[in-house]
Amino acid sequence: MQVISLKTAIGMSGCSPRKDERLKSMKNNNSVETLSGGVVRLDNVTKKYGIGNLNTIAVNNVSLTISKGEFVAIVGTSGSGKSTLMHMMCGIEKPTSGKVFVCGEDIYSMKDTDLSVFRCKNIGMVYQFFNLIPVLNVEENIAFTEIVSGEKPDFKEVGKLLKRLGLSDKGYSFPNQLSGGQQQRVAIGRAIMGKPPIVLADEPTGNLDSKNSKEVIDLLTELCREYNTTLVVITHDEKIAEKADRVLRIEDGRIISDVLQNGDSKK
Ligand SMILES: Nc1ncnc2c1ncn2[C@@H]1O[C@H](COP(=O)(O)OP(=O)(O)OP(=O)(O)O)[C@@H](O)[C@H]1O
Ligand SMILES: [Mg+2]
Repeated sequence: MQVISLKTAIGMSGCSPRKDERLKSMKNNNSVETLSGGVVRLDNVTKKYGIGNLNTIAVNNVSLTISKGEFVAIVGTSGSGKSTLMHMMCGIEKPTSGKVFVCGEDIYSMKDTDLSVFRCKNIGMVYQFFNLIPVLNVEENIAFTEIVSGEKPDFKEVGKLLKRLGLSDKGYSFPNQLSGGQQQRVAIGRAIMGKPPIVLADEPTGNLDSKNSKEVIDLLTELCREYNTTLVVITHDEKIAEKADRVLRIEDGRIISDVLQNGDSKK
């Protein structure tokens, strides 16, 4: 097994230790009960890759507002632009044109360093392939943002989360000692730990069997409801989309339908 240092692990997170002081001083915006402009707002956002005739328009002039506490599923065929859209929401892919507001902040007008701090405090991410830090144990992975920011991790809170995640006996295990479903539950713990206003998940069950998929998505939705966290999930699984408050369907980089599951249609 490749052994990497904690310093390297921190580098992999996108939060560098240089930003410690900023992280400590920056609070997340989860206390904001309502944001009139939505927790996430995209104004005429386009993302093009490549140049000239060889370019791909991955996201094409999308405008969208997502409210506090909303659970939104994004569905669409492979290559339709779902991940690109999510990457623009979470501050890792700058749009070619248009603006992205998260908790009222025009995120791409921020300096890179400020944006990565903002991201750590306000956006929890869950990925298809878990992306846990191999040299950190389960407790440390869950408390990762606090560790990176130089704060004293709240291990009491970590313990409570471990119980909710059904991992009380795995706190000192390392990611390679866990099953896929267990690793994804740790990733959910890490995403929700600081009670960020937003959690974004790109095919969080894409690598799991149906039993683990159900457990993982139930945990993710329950915790987000409990913390009034806005949850956006990209999925190919219609059963997951059915649970959402709202389903966005993407085709060729455009939103072709935007349906509230109570039967209303936004588009
Ligand atoms: N970094 C990149 N450079 C060039 N083209 C890219 C890049 N990232 C994505 N694309 C292209 O943009 C389009 C949208 O890709 P995206 O990853 O957003 O699709 P997706 O809907 O998430 O697909 P999947 O369901 O397979 O994950 C695709 O045509 C893809 O090839
Ligand atoms: Mg994708």
